[in-house]
Amino acid sequence: MTNDQEKAPGAAPEGAAPTAGAGSAAQTGAAAQPPAGEPAARKPHRRAWTTVGIVAAIIVVAGAGFWVWHEQPGFCNAVCHSPMDYYVESYDSGDPHLGITAHAADGVTCLKCHDAELTTQISELMAWTSDNYPVTEDGRLATGKEFATEQFCAKSGCHHELGDSYDEITANLWGFAGNDEKYNPHASHQDLALECGDCHGIHEANVLACNECHDLTMPEGWEAPSEQ
Ligand code: HEC
Ligand code: HEC
Ligand code: HEC
Repeated sequence: MTNDQEKAPGAAPEGAAPTAGAGSAAQTGAAAQPPAGEPAARKPHRRAWTTVGIVAAIIVVAGAGFWVWHEQPGFCNAVCHSPMDYYVESYDSGDPHLGITAHAADGVTCLKCHDAELTTQISELMAWTSDNYPVTEDGRLATGKEFATEQFCAKSGCHHELGDSYDEITANLWGFAGNDEKYNPHASHQDLALECGDCHGIHEANVLACNECHDLTMPEGWEAPSEQ
């Protein structure tokens, strides 16, 4: 009695498997056993792999072209129009006040400075599609000074007229722009109060923060804080 009762529930799923459909057979891992389930389960698989193959081929072919386009400054505002217009237009403007001008002249493209991480691009896309990104009055995105650090701006491989490391550049800045030898914008009583971005603008003007209090001669194209 007890034996029969134990067998009956045990036999029921086995017998039911072929008619239960590919989904439940696959879920229980029994797909390999009932031959009747096999063809039904395999067909969609084969079709799925063909689709994956076609999509992969498209990605490889289109991707190569896309990647080249993606690296051009024009990509940024072709895709996101309004928030990127300012950055892309000023890239080629030749405006001597902007740090981007010297970089553009050296062929430093957007993505050499801005890491195109997938997560960033996805969140940018979502912000753009939902029209939800912070913009300043003159149309710039209101974020992002934090990565303009010594490690980033003075990294090797970026050759500057004044030296290859931050220390070397600083050593060459005493008496900068024809000022008295005692003045160095990178070494002063203000060091702890200033960030690189307080003076160096990439998409903004270069500002000599010292002139909030001093009246130092400024390098060409630089502005005093009062001109801001
Ligand atoms: C030399 C490095 C450099 C290049 C080249 C550069 N940027 Fe930037 N970008 C910066 C820095 C540094 C900031 C932070 C704010 C600042 O200094 O203006 C910034 C800020 C931004 C911001 C504000 C939001 C954010 O992500 O911080 C946008 C948008 C932007 N850049 C877009 C562009 C586009 C588009 C290009 C190409 C046309 C470009 N950038 C080229 C360095 C660069
Ligand atoms: C008080 C303003 C000020 C601050 C803060 C400042 N700089 Fe400078 N920096 C200058 C001036 C002025 C020059 C000389 C620019 C020129 O002669 O065109 C200069 C030159 C440079 C140069 C050389 C550019 C070239 O054309 O060779 C680099 C690179 C640089 N600074 C990076 C930095 C970094 C990185 C920081 C932050 C760690 C920083 N600066 C902080 C004012 C400043
Ligand atoms: C908040 C105001 C302020 C800022 C900003 C400032 N300084 Fe000064 N600085 C002073 C004052 C005040 C003195 C003392 C002047 C005196 O003794 O006559 C001084 C003195 C100096 C001295 C000593 C020699 C002298 O002129 O008397 C140097 C060098 C100097 N500053 C360099 C700089 C540099 C470089 C910067 C920019 C990185 C800078 N300062 C930014 C206020 C400032």
